[in-house]
Formats: sequence, structure tokens, C-alpha cells
Amino acid sequence: MSTNNTQAILLAAGRSSRFKRKKSKLLSKICGRAMVIFPLKVLNKLNIPVTAVINYQGDEIKEEVKREKIKDINFVSQIDAKGTASAVLSSKEHWSAKNILVLNGDVPLITKELISDLMEKHEKNNASVSLLSTYVLNPKGYGRIVENNGKVRIYEEKDCPEEFKNSNKINVGVYLFKRTFLQKYLEKLEKSPVSGEFYLTDLIAFASDKNLGVQDVPASFDEVRGVNDLQELWAVDQILRSNLIKHWMRNGVRFELAQNIHVDIDVEIGAGSFIGTGAHIIGGSKLGEECIVGAFSIIKNSKLGEGVFVDYHSIVQDSVIGKGAEVGPFARLRNGVSLGENAVVGNFVEVKNSKISTNTKVKHMAYVGDASVGKNVNIGAGTVFCNYDGKKKHRTIIEDDVFVGSNDTLIAPVKISKGAYTAAGSTITKDVPSGSLAIARPIQENKDGYASRIKGRIEGPTKEEAPVKTTKKFHFIGAVKTDNTP
Ligand code: UD1
Ligand code: CA
Repeated sequence: MSTNNTQAILLAAGRSSRFKRKKSKLLSKICGRAMVIFPLKVLNKLNIPVTAVINYQGDEIKEEVKREKIKDINFVSQIDAKGTASAVLSSKEHWSAKNILVLNGDVPLITKELISDLMEKHEKNNASVSLLSTYVLNPKGYGRIVENNGKVRIYEEKDCPEEFKNSNKINVGVYLFKRTFLQKYLEKLEKSPVSGEFYLTDLIAFASDKNLGVQDVPASFDEVRGVNDLQELWAVDQILRSNLIKHWMRNGVRFELAQNIHVDIDVEIGAGSFIGTGAHIIGGSKLGEECIVGAFSIIKNSKLGEGVFVDYHSIVQDSVIGKGAEVGPFARLRNGVSLGENAVVGNFVEVKNSKISTNTKVKHMAYVGDASVGKNVNIGAGTVFCNYDGKKKHRTIIEDDVFVGSNDTLIAPVKISKGAYTAAGSTITKDVPSGSLAIARPIQENKDGYASRIKGRIEGPTKEEAPVKTTKKFHFIGAVKTDNTP
């Protein structure tokens, strides 16, 4: 169905007081994406232009929208936060299309299909207002849709008469209005005597009383849950994450204890991969086919080539890992690391802002910072790249086929040229020419007979030499010694 007769208004100006946090709920992340972005992505897919009504933390919302590259959007401010009707009214100058789709900003799991269905039924029935509805066991907090003697109205939680409190049919907060209807009646609403707010939902009774056509369109609750507090945020997060994991399972990914795994919305995982329990695959990471991510590892904003093995408890952040490379267990890659094909970064190794090329190995307890390391290099256990002089960071360059001995300290800036060796325990401060061996450690001296010469000086007293033991008894109370002898 054509969508060019419809424009949307997104309500995103509320204070999120039920969240009891300083941040607007609309900026809270659900599987790695801010809540406000969800409906906007759906509108972009449907090519429906949108006006977002903002106020509380509006600048932050604008920034997020820009970061997520949302198209076809403009913003208006709601000056006085007097409820959903005054929020819609703030956008009045922008109304031009035949139909105005109004969406609450806190219904993140809304789908393209539901909105298309709403638009179709609205047109088909020539309704003045159409709205999504659903049924729920506990309707507390939602507006109840009540039909009485052929008339429909919505009772808000605070204003709901006792007799309708248990009505299970609820309003979702997604409506399609004829613009002419909205123009005629929105300003006629009166504020609730209970809350002092102007309720958009009072328009339903207006339309119904005047027989102007009210169409409700059913939805399944999980797709239209509202998010007013942190428990509801947790619920939608769980639903979405579980849907994402099911999607990747259908695409050949094995999850070990799937209920304990975090997968963000923009992630991709290749077929044949295995994700261990407690792992986080987040921030738009892309994993190739046949990858293994061991238990409790975190892959954030990174790319893993085919067959990469990240062993237990490792962190890979903002990095690119080549085909067949191995990382961990207990390794950390951060700030733009590039790891070549079949390279190995082993246990207790941290790599920062460095390039490590094909077949190079850094297998045990090392720090590699601000370095460029060539192919087929071996970095010995305990090696530290000293990149920081207290003020500036400096780079280390290691060319192909170099062997760096264990427990070396490489003081940057320094270059070790192709095929060179450095001896274990060296502190390398000068460039090492190609093919040579650098030894930079004190020369060992052996003192013959030393042990026998010092015998007796370093051993404890003999039994005969030991002081006579006192007959007094001591009682120890904690750290305090007390003489309790009568
Ligand atoms: C609203 C509906 C309720 C429905 C529920 C569905 C009203 C009066 N009630 O209640 O019938 O069952 O959603 O989840 O509409 N907002 C503004 N400006 C304001 C107030 C709110 O922009 O002055 C925005 C909020 O940021 C939010 C949306 O409007 O995105 C809904 O507001 P909220 O306070 O969450 O409404 P509910 O109490 O959930
Ligand atoms: Ca709400």
C-alpha cells in the first residue's frame, strides 16, 4: 500500500519519571539500540516522514537520531509537558498529509507489518481514527478500551472507574487519524481533573460519540508492550534478545545456554559458529562462518574472519581479526587492533592500537601497545612494549620474521628490522638491524664456592643455640598478647 498519504508524529518529550533515573527512557538501550530509534527505523522502512516531538533531553535524542542515520525526520519542541494531546498539538504546523500516524516513543517492538495493517484497515473502513489494541492479563498502567452501549472510550489508569479496572483490552499508543479530524477536535480536549494532563486518548470517545468511525486493529501484546519502568525495559530486552538468538539459531549458529548470552541487534554471526555461555556479541560485531567464541568472552564492535577462535574470558573491542586467528583465553584486544590470518594472541596478553600480521604469535603474558608487527614474528612470554613516556605515546615497529626473546622490554620509538633476534631479558632502546642479535642485559657472573662460604650465616640457629623456652603461658586474644598467669 502506498504510504505517501501518511506522515508520522513520534511522541518523545516525556520526562520518564517512572524510570527514576536521570536519563530519558527513550535513550535507554535495548539490545544495543536506543529505544527511540526502534519506531523510527520502522517508519524509515515504510518511507513515512516523521516529526519527533521532543523536550526532555531533546539534544541527546537528536544526536542519537543522527548517529543512527535516520532519514526524513524533523523535530519540534513540546514547551509544556501537559500530556500526550499537548505533545501532538506541538506538531500542528507540520501536518499536511491525509493521515497522521501518532506513535508513543516507548513502544519499541512495534513492527512494520502492524503499522501497514493499521493503515490498510483505516483506509478500508474510512475511519476517522484507527488504533492498535491488545489484550493483557494485568492491564495496570495501560489505558483500558471500554465498549459500552455501542460507544467506545479509553479510561486512563489514574481516571479509570473501579468497574473497568480489570478490563483486559488495552490501548497500545499507536493511532492513525484523519488529519481533518485531528485539526477539528484536538484543541477541544479538556484536561483530566485527576492528573491535570490532556489525554490524546480522549479523542476516541469524541469520534465514537459523533459516529465518525473508530477502527481498532488487534496486535499481539509482546509486539506492543509499553516501557514505563525498568522492569518493562528488561522484559522487552529479553523478548528482543531471545528473538535475535532464535534467528541466528535458524541460521546455523549454536548457542551454549542461550538464555545467558547477549546478542545485540546489529550483530551478524556466520553459520557453523559456536557461542559459549555468558558471551556478549555486541555493538554491531560481525562474525564469519565457523567461529568459536568461548564462554564469558566479549566481542564488541569487531569483525572476526572465518574460523576465528576466541577462547574463554577474552575481550575483543574495536578490532578486526583475520581468518583462522586465535585469541585467549584471558586476552584483551582494544582500540583498533588488526590481527592477521592465523595469528595467535594467547593468555594474559593485552594488545592495543596495533597491527599484528599473519602467522605472528604473542602467546603469553605480554603488552603490545601502538605497534606494527610483521609476519611470522614470535614475541616471547612477558614482553612489554613501553609505548608511553609519561607525556606521549610512541610506536614500535617489528618487521617480518623477527624473534623477540622472553621478558624483553622494548622502549618505543624503536624498530627491529627483518629477521633480527633479541635475547631474552633484554631492554631494547636502540633500533636492531636486519638479521642481527641484540643482547641488552647484564652479563652473568658465577661465584664459585659461594654457598659453602656463607653456610651458617644464612641458616637459622642450631637446637643447642636456641634460647631457653619460658614457662609462662600466654593466651592470644586476636592480635593482643595477654599474660594470664595467676
Ligand atoms: C499511554 C496512553 C495509554 C496507553 C499507553 C500505552 C495516554 C494519555 N495514555 O499511557 O492509553 O495504554 O500509553 O503504552 O496517551 N509524551 C510526550 N509528552 C508528554 C507526555 C508523554 O511526548 O507530555 C510521550 C512520552 O515520552 C512517551 C509517550 O508520549 O513516549 C507516552 O507517554 P506515557 O507517559 O508513557 O504514557 P502512558 O502513561 O504509558
Ligand atoms: Ca508509556
